[in-house]
Amino acid sequence: MNLSQKVYGVTFQNPTVLASGIMGITASSWRFCVENGAGGITTKSLWLTEHMGHPNPTIISTEHWSLNAVGLPDAGVEKAVQEVGDYLKNKPAPLIGNVVAGSIEDFGKTAEHIAKLKPDFLEVNISCPNVEDEFGKPFACSAPDAAAVTKHIKQVSGDIPVFIKLSPNVNNIGAIALACAEQGADGFTAINTVGPGMAIDLRSRMPILANKVGGLSGPAIKPIAVKCIADVYAATEGKLPIIGTGGVYTGEDALELMLAGATLIGIGTAVGDRGIDVFKKVCDEMQYWCTNEGVEHVSDMVGAMHKELASRS
Ligand SMILES: Cc1cc2nc3c(=O)[nH]c(=O)nc-3n(C[C@H](O)[C@H](O)[C@H](O)COP(=O)(O)O)c2cc1C
Repeated sequence: MNLSQKVYGVTFQNPTVLASGIMGITASSWRFCVENGAGGITTKSLWLTEHMGHPNPTIISTEHWSLNAVGLPDAGVEKAVQEVGDYLKNKPAPLIGNVVAGSIEDFGKTAEHIAKLKPDFLEVNISCPNVEDEFGKPFACSAPDAAAVTKHIKQVSGDIPVFIKLSPNVNNIGAIALACAEQGADGFTAINTVGPGMAIDLRSRMPILANKVGGLSGPAIKPIAVKCIADVYAATEGKLPIIGTGGVYTGEDALELMLAGATLIGIGTAVGDRGIDVFKKVCDEMQYWCTNEGVEHVSDMVGAMHKELASRS
């Protein structure tokens, strides 16, 4: 059973990809993920200049969900250039450079720096729900704003395919994806964290996170991810690749996101819960399920729910 996926000429040995923000920003931590089975790597969100993030505590987890308000800390593009450059010199798997900014102009400048290093794809984080105090509503919450960022980044990214990271916290994610596609988006990552949400400590009567609110991730968000992926796939008629992300813990979770339309599968919160070798475990489980069910190539699963629905209507 073949698990490899080819996207814009880039071969991923398997569909699993480290989701943004999970394993730091060093070439050695990315290599460690690949040694543990990741088919590709996404960098954490990279800012143009140093960005502090939020004070601790920034994460609270249960077995069903995780809330984080890490707040996108980063040393800035200069440091990132060193680490990304080091990884790309002798890369064991494709690299997706994730960029973030507070203005359209800064999105362009950061993307331009990273694009020069020739990552395999750029991922544009316009959808973080826990930096609203600093930057207002994410660009991903409005079709014109999301389209404007896409247009600007496409002007500076050369031949690097641009994936727009979408927010689930909108009424019509399909319309937002379509608006980005019309400005040249090459693909999408769906989804970023949900919410924001809040957790309160009973004794102190205080929010547990210092930032009060955080983005929700982990098993609880998988059905939202599946619906968002299905909506984006339908809106763009399955023509653009989707990195399906949200609550994937097992091979069956990954296959479900593929049926909705995902070509690659981002894994984030599960790295902490199932261990660094979650990538290998998810691949083994996909392999096992597909072999038992007579699926020859995992790509046969991509968007298959839409075909099945069409054949029955
Ligand atoms: C601790 C933490 C940090 C994150 N940091 C980023 C980030 O820097 N940039 C980004 O685009 N997404 C970030 N995310 C969102 C994840 O990449 C992913 O979209 C989300 O967590 C859903 O996937 P999951 O349920 O597999 O974790 C972060 C998520 C977590 C839990």
